[in-house]
Amino acid sequence: MKYKAIIFDLDGVICSTDEYHYFAWKALAEMIGIKDFTRKDNNLLRGISRMDSLEIILKKTDKVYSDEQKATLAEMKNDMYKNLLAGMSEEDLDENVLSTLKTLRERGLKLAIGSSSKNTPLILERLGLDKFFDAVADGNCITHSKPHPEVFLKAAEFLNLQPCNCLVVEDAVAGVEAAIAGGFEAAGLGEAGAYAKTTYRLHEFPDLLNISV
Ligand code: BG6
Ligand code: MG
Repeated sequence: MKYKAIIFDLDGVICSTDEYHYFAWKALAEMIGIKDFTRKDNNLLRGISRMDSLEIILKKTDKVYSDEQKATLAEMKNDMYKNLLAGMSEEDLDENVLSTLKTLRERGLKLAIGSSSKNTPLILERLGLDKFFDAVADGNCITHSKPHPEVFLKAAEFLNLQPCNCLVVEDAVAGVEAAIAGGFEAAGLGEAGAYAKTTYRLHEFPDLLNISV
């Protein structure tokens, strides 16, 4: 078997919290007078840390914000985002995702999370996955967010494996960049699937079952 482990991005791969990020950023953008924040803009934020995402959004306005004001804006977005997370439960975990994860584990693969999000523990708990993964590397244990490879290198280190033995699964171009920079191969969903550097294109999550053996 080529791979010994699979490292999954969380938002937009294991669950649809990428939509919640979009709603919360759009609400924040409108609050500060940015009326044209689109899904295309939001795709640029996939995999990017909260503060770096805010900086990208602020490029759409001429207003200047101090570091303190930026921290407040990021906190407001996170509060709106967490309100959306509060409504999540195990029912929000797609059956196809869960059964695919279980099949991969039965095949002997280790399973890990590699996410830029500081809300990772909360989301995994709400989905009933808080004890499921063999390793979790997230926004709380890194200094550089994707496209830097740090979070995936941490996950591989927690698994005690080399990057060449781990496949990364991503929905973000920045995430695929991070994987490749770290020496991993990557499988991509959505935009990441169409990206030139992505090793395998997945049309849907269960397609993983066709490439991981
Ligand atoms: C990534 C998301 O998983 O986490 C980004 O794709 C998000 O959109 C980033 O900005 C940080 O998330 P959080 O929950 O720490 O604000
Ligand atoms: Mg993602």
